[in-house]
Amino acid sequence: MKERMLTGIKPTGNSITLGNYIGGLLPLIKYQDQFDLFLFVADLHALTVYQKDLTLGKNIENLVATYLAAGIDPNKVTIFKQSEIPEHTQLEWVLTCTTDLPDLLKMPQYKNYKEINKNKAVPAGMLMYPSLMNADILLYNTDYIPVGIDQKPHVNLCHDIAIKFNARYGETFKIPKPIVPETGAKIMSLTIPTKKMSKSESDNGTIYLLEDVEITRRKIMKAITDSENKVYFNPETKPGVSNLLSIYSALSEIPISKLEEKYANISNYGVFKKDLADLVCDKMAQIQARIKRIKELGIIHTVLKNGANKAGFEAHNMLETVYKKVGLK
Ligand code: TYM
Repeated sequence: MKERMLTGIKPTGNSITLGNYIGGLLPLIKYQDQFDLFLFVADLHALTVYQKDLTLGKNIENLVATYLAAGIDPNKVTIFKQSEIPEHTQLEWVLTCTTDLPDLLKMPQYKNYKEINKNKAVPAGMLMYPSLMNADILLYNTDYIPVGIDQKPHVNLCHDIAIKFNARYGETFKIPKPIVPETGAKIMSLTIPTKKMSKSESDNGTIYLLEDVEITRRKIMKAITDSENKVYFNPETKPGVSNLLSIYSALSEIPISKLEEKYANISNYGVFKKDLADLVCDKMAQIQARIKRIKELGIIHTVLKNGANKAGFEAHNMLETVYKKVGLK
């Protein structure tokens, strides 16, 4: 039997970023043959930030279409919406009662939010966020969680909570492990390359997979580099160029060392940036065209329904087991 792998992406905004794509989605294209992959839409996690424009439904559709357009095969992968399986929030409560507050206070999502929004109250959901993630993972006997580096501490917490629960109540959960891609686990902003590329950063620093590719081309050509005009990888001294190399390598599957050789004799970054812009824009144009076709086919609803049936069955069984273990049944 194949080992179970599970991951999810939040449907915040109408498009995922290039960072989400490279760190969170692209590695799954290979994994889907090797593992029994569960890929869900983390729509409940999206609610941790107030979604005032009520576009979540449309964003969810875009995200599922993006999964399929990127090459995820719904015949191999179980694709579903977190909010359609009530066991996620039911197990969340049980796991919250197994989690110590200081462990949640240490988690990066909560800490980042607090730092960025200095004078604002932190929504309680931001603090509970990892506990819901723990439920997402532990409901499905998950062996591996492929994520970018930013999510690794959350998965490590899940690993610890699974061990703690098993020690208290007897063997119940598989102990999950994070898997982080070798290249592209943390794509940085194009304007502030010491910061992660994210939806909350400046628009010029973040590439959105569904944006007009001419806008993307401009962002890449203007990406912050340095004045050395030498292409080599050193995130400490050359964060901008190293970030562009990571993007290039992840999308082309050419090792960074080979790219360094290819651009060893350039006199400025123009050629390197232009080649990268061509690569990124071609990839995006392909995905955007496929998304359009997928939406026209009208298959998203069926894909989510099939996924929810399969995931729901497993989630139900696991919650029954957990309720018995903690003495509720
Ligand atoms: P989310 O939606 O913030 O990110 C989805 C995936 O993209 C990765 N990622 C990045 N990778 C490289 N460079 C970046 N700049 C970058 N930004 C984001 C993330 O690491 C992630 O893999 N809480 C999760 C969703 C979730 C989940 C789960 C994941 C909910 N439950 C259970 C795994 C298992 C989140 O908000 O990811």
